[in-house]
Amino acid sequence: MKILVVGSGGREHAIVWRLANDPVKHDLYCAPGNAGIAELATIVDALAEDVSAIVAWARANNPDLVVVGPEAPLVKGLVDELAKIGIPSFGPVASGARMEGSKRFAKDVMQAAGVPTARAEVYTDSVAAKEALARFGLPVVIKADGLAAGKGVIVAETFEQAAEAIDDMLVANKFGAAGAEVLIEEFLDGEECSILAMTDGEHAVLLPGSQDHKRIFDGDKGPNTGGMGAYSPAPVVTDDMLEGIKEGIILPVVRELKKRGTVYRGILYAGLMVTPEGGKIALSGSKVNVVEFNARFGDPETEAVLPRLGGNFAEALLHAATGRLKDEDIVVKDEVAATVIVSSGGYPGSYDKGFEIKGLGEAAKTGAIVFHCGTKADGGRVLTAGGRVLSVTGTGATLREAVDKAYTAIGCISFDKMFYRKDIAHRAFDRA
Ligand code: AMP
Ligand code: GLY
Repeated sequence: MKILVVGSGGREHAIVWRLANDPVKHDLYCAPGNAGIAELATIVDALAEDVSAIVAWARANNPDLVVVGPEAPLVKGLVDELAKIGIPSFGPVASGARMEGSKRFAKDVMQAAGVPTARAEVYTDSVAAKEALARFGLPVVIKADGLAAGKGVIVAETFEQAAEAIDDMLVANKFGAAGAEVLIEEFLDGEECSILAMTDGEHAVLLPGSQDHKRIFDGDKGPNTGGMGAYSPAPVVTDDMLEGIKEGIILPVVRELKKRGTVYRGILYAGLMVTPEGGKIALSGSKVNVVEFNARFGDPETEAVLPRLGGNFAEALLHAATGRLKDEDIVVKDEVAATVIVSSGGYPGSYDKGFEIKGLGEAAKTGAIVFHCGTKADGGRVLTAGGRVLSVTGTGATLREAVDKAYTAIGCISFDKMFYRKDIAHRAFDRA
């Protein structure tokens, strides 16, 4: 198959890598890719958000499938435009991507579909929003409706913090149009996990569960990031919960969207909160609540989940993109995976770029997989080009083996101001 992958991060490197490991050989392209992806695919010189450039490339090159990594082109309607020229894409149309692009829309769909989630109220007026705070306990969660690069969610410990977040969004316009509506949401207590469900708009197959590490520092301290590591499976989601998540969360949403005229194809990513016994339970009394939906593969979850998949991945993606997905399309290997993000010091705040990365060859020899997140080739050298720089995945028979493999590989790598968490998978180890 001739396949174009859209995006330039660790997630897209993992998608390209997994396609390159299929039992049949594909003709792989990536727009715009990065230094690691360039070793496996032909680089296409178009930014992921540049819908017209990607459509022009597709028109000229006629791929069998386009796989869209990030949310921005999905929300902008890339898949809709490719459909107009008859090219199947893995990823939802714009009306489906609203599940990520508008938290109010996602809440509305969840309520209509009877999916368990935190109670929320929507406001455009800051005075009314602040008055509403009294109806919520503390902590309380304030969310900008639209895409805000992961910064639009504030978990407020005090009413003052909550009021400040509301004013930032509704009065100071700190998030622009994305913050023109705010959701005030009940706080959910518990442990988070990520479920990536592959769907063709009718059927859904759940990929193995995983857990992200959102905070920058060990012990889950410090500001939120795009994710500092992940592992799969996550013991917080047991196998018997997966069927309930599919029947009680994923399929009701897919059906509700269809009722509204959207055939949702691609990944429906459910960020879940698993509430401990005796903890606070929202709505239906379920122990599992949806925190958010994303319209794409998670990053870094993908780097931990895809190495565990066997079978013909391209065929699974094509089947989902064309309404023919079957349970057998997803084959899960009896293996555990752990991914550690290597970042540039300062991230998620400001950081420098352009540092030479050394030791990539030695790291690859350890048996771990080194995915590139933000890198750039410069002659024979590889330079840092983002906050999250590398995503290093170890696999093994046990979680300990997988984690050790990832850290052994990282031990070979160096660049100025390199930073990574040392405690990936700590929740799973604490349980055991
Ligand atoms: P979101 O972008 O909606 O995933 O929110 C980002 C992060 O904020 C989540 O991963 C949670 O850690 C936290 N969060 C969001 N909503 C809630 C909630 N209702 N209760 C507790 N934590 C939340
Ligand atoms: N790792 C969180 C996300 O992909 O949104």
